[in-house]
Amino acid sequence: MAKHILNSSQFDSDKVERLFQMSDEINQKIDHKREKELLRTLPGNILFSFFCEESTRTRFSFETAGMLLGMHVIGTENAKKFSSMVKGESLRHSIRTMCELRANAIVLRHSTEGSAKEAAEIADPYGVSILNAGDGKGEHPSQALLDIYTIRNSFDKLENLAVACGGDLANGRTVRSLVRMLSSYDDISFRFFSPRELQMKQDVLDHLEKHGQRWRVCKTMEEALKGADVIYWTRSQLERFTSWQKIGRYFRALFAGNGKYIIGKHEMETWVKPDAILMHPLPIKDEIEAGVDNDSRSKYFEQVKNGLLVRMALLKYCLQ
Ligand code: NCD
Repeated sequence: MAKHILNSSQFDSDKVERLFQMSDEINQKIDHKREKELLRTLPGNILFSFFCEESTRTRFSFETAGMLLGMHVIGTENAKKFSSMVKGESLRHSIRTMCELRANAIVLRHSTEGSAKEAAEIADPYGVSILNAGDGKGEHPSQALLDIYTIRNSFDKLENLAVACGGDLANGRTVRSLVRMLSSYDDISFRFFSPRELQMKQDVLDHLEKHGQRWRVCKTMEEALKGADVIYWTRSQLERFTSWQKIGRYFRALFAGNGKYIIGKHEMETWVKPDAILMHPLPIKDEIEAGVDNDSRSKYFEQVKNGLLVRMALLKYCLQ
């Protein structure tokens, strides 16, 4: 059976730590200018990256990860426009085609929740791995792993942390995957801060209850940020909104509330602890001001770098 990366629940903390150790080893090789050795990891293996939704970091980092491991990489962005999907071909037939073309792994981003699972059912008999690079409002497991790797490297631990999540918690698949995956560590408390219509959904809250983790909804940014170790801020996922009315309500909440959800220098100086970290999956739109980018607590570009390492480890885990 092929190994797939489909959701955050498939990783327990031991498995996550093994992946992180692989990521550390890869990092050491890169730091010591021994990248050439990495090329011998998966030589000649074929990686298709099939992105039916826009991407910058996830696509580039998976493709770079494949290349640095010696794989042949073939990719398409906007597959709904640049592949036969535009002619009405189904995802199942697209996946089957890549499998027939001797893919070893397929990185898939799609707008429908559950699409990665569906792809894995097709690819499994071929022994081809599917890596979920985001399925609609569902999950984004490789992002959650790189986020947790960043937290571990910042604090040297993954327990007893207060985590504040803000922004679009209803539609953001990265924050959904992160909260689910973090819930398997000891004593993590969550604070959620978002407009009412974008609150964290019940399935994730039920997951937290099941794992005995504490969570609360905050009424103000101050309440969310003060005392938090990890601040994970997210963009409003406008592409997932179903009606203009809802968009209108969101913008009223965001802007009429005097930038109620925007983190700027003032918020960093007044409420964020000196040893806290500020994370974001990127892209940032308005929710973090540019002036915060060079604050030593801002980790979003470190997350990007870590994404490459973790995705190399994931490809190695699936294919070796
Ligand atoms: C995120 C995504 O596509 O879910 N981007 C990413 O992969 N880093 C977050 C977003 O688009 O807001």
